[in-house]
This record gives sequence, structure tokens and C-alpha cells, in this order.
Amino acid sequence: MIETLTELDTLRARVNGWKREGLRVGFVPTMGNLHAGHYSLVMLARQYADRVVSSVFVNPTQFGPNEDFTRYPRTPEADTTGLEGAGCDVLWLPTVESMYPFGIELAARINVPGVSSVLEGAHRPGHFDGVCTVVTRLFNQVQPDVAAFGKKDFQQLAVIRQMVTDLAVPIEILGGSIVRESDGLAMSSRNQYLTADERPRAAEIRRTLLAMREAMVGGQSLAAVEAEASRRLAEAGFEVDYAVVRRPDLGMLQDGSPGAKVSLVAARLGKTRLIDNLEW
Ligand code: PAJ
Repeated sequence: MIETLTELDTLRARVNGWKREGLRVGFVPTMGNLHAGHYSLVMLARQYADRVVSSVFVNPTQFGPNEDFTRYPRTPEADTTGLEGAGCDVLWLPTVESMYPFGIELAARINVPGVSSVLEGAHRPGHFDGVCTVVTRLFNQVQPDVAAFGKKDFQQLAVIRQMVTDLAVPIEILGGSIVRESDGLAMSSRNQYLTADERPRAAEIRRTLLAMREAMVGGQSLAAVEAEASRRLAEAGFEVDYAVVRRPDLGMLQDGSPGAKVSLVAARLGKTRLIDNLEW
């Protein structure tokens, strides 16, 4: 049976009990409205830990003023059932008041320079500060040995890895593969904002990412690949925030530079902003 906890003292007691028994503790932070992508992270954490804690907390500090904080989907019953099925032991449900005891204005904030400022960071100012601020609190609350994050949010994973290294946080970070719908659309809580007309067109992001890889491998210039990707997405009705190819550390590429690469897209279809990426 999964246990739902809302008091920090109880969470600490549970985790400390496990640690006294010599058990390793895994952690999967989420904002709820869970799907197979989230559950795959619980199963990944299970491979590296004896007990798994998941948190559900829609974190106000990572949403911009014109973003979807208030309408973000909240499905607590389905999340609890799904987490139990995925093998989660404890569901941690902090309140906004317990997460930010001095209020949001006075909250101590974490900023990871550099990697936070490009791409998502450039289009969503303050977003990664909010993510790092809440993930640091969640890490201190749960005190896991290992924590799992999805590669769906490629830049988020990079920011968290840098934060953990820089602050010497004693937690091993795991990156989980992207889980997709059958047409290739990356699973996301935001997919349900898509209208019936938009939903099939959303798969164009994945096709564009694949085409970007093919064109790069085929020797086309970076500028041509990125321009063609934006054109193609715009033609399918997207408003493109970025469609780029970068090094895995999100640094700029030079044409012809060898080694691993990642293509990343952020684009809006109607009211829905979607992100996805492809590593090769
Ligand atoms: P959320 O969007 O709920 O995502 C929770 C975790 O699930 C993240 O690590 C995300 O990358 C992963 N995830 C989402 N969709 C996925 C998919 N299709 N395949 C694989 N993994 C997927 O990311 C957040 O919440 C928040 O920023 C959080 C880290 C909880 C801080 O508030």
C-alpha cells in the first residue's frame, strides 16, 4: 500500500527508519497529473533504490505570470492509484505554506547561472530558479540517495545536474528516457490542453526533431537545419520559440564539430506550449 504523507516530521521519520535498516531511498519529484512518463521514473528509481518517494507539488515559483499555474491539471486520486501501481512507497504532498514558510517573496532562491539562462530560461525568465528553489527544498525534505528526472525536460535535467555538482548535494541523479504516445508525441500533462484538431498536428514536433538529426548527419549546415525546422513547424501551425541543435551541455555547435548532439524544440500550438528533444 502506498502511504500519503503531508507532514514533514512523518516523512522524515519514515525515511530515517528506512535508512536505519540500511535501505536506499529513491525520489521522483512531480507536479502531478501523472502519466506513463512519470511512472517510468518511479520504476527507474526502484532499480537503484529499495524504497521510492514521489512528490506531487504544483510549484508556483516556476510558473511565469502569464503561464498556466492556476489551470494546471490536478488529479490527486488517479495519481495516487498510478503511483501505487508503479511501485511507489510514499506520496509526499507538501503544502505551499510548508514549502515556502516565509512566503514566496522572502523565499531563499537558488540560481544556477549559464545553463539556466539559454533556451527555456530565455523564454521563461526565472523558470529554472523556481525549479532549483523547489527541488532543493524537496531534496532537503526527502533526503534521498538517488533522484530521477526525465530527459523530456532535457535542460531541466542539465540544470539539476549542475546544481547538484556545484552545491555538493549528496544525491545521485538519474535521467529517464522520454516516454511517447504511439504517434511520437512526448507524453506531457499539457497535451490535454490540445484541441481535437491540434492533437494530431502536435506529432509534427517529433517528426521535425528526426528530420533535424537526419539533415545534420547528412552534413547540412547548422543554420540551414535550424531554419528548415522552424519553417516546417510554422507551416504546421506552430509558433516556434526555438528549434536548435546543441551540444549535450547545451553549448553552441560549430558546423562539422564531431560528437554527441541534441536537437531541441519549443513551440506553441494554439494555447499549448510543447517541448521535446532528441539526442544522438
Ligand atoms: P513534471 O512536469 O510533473 O515532471 C516530473 C518529471 O517527469 C520530470 O523529471 C519530467 O522530465 C518527467 N517527465 C515528464 N514527461 C515525461 C515523459 N514523457 N517521459 C519521461 N519523463 C517525463 O518537471 C517537473 O514536473 C517540475 O519541474 C519538478 C521537477 C517536479 C519541479 O517542480
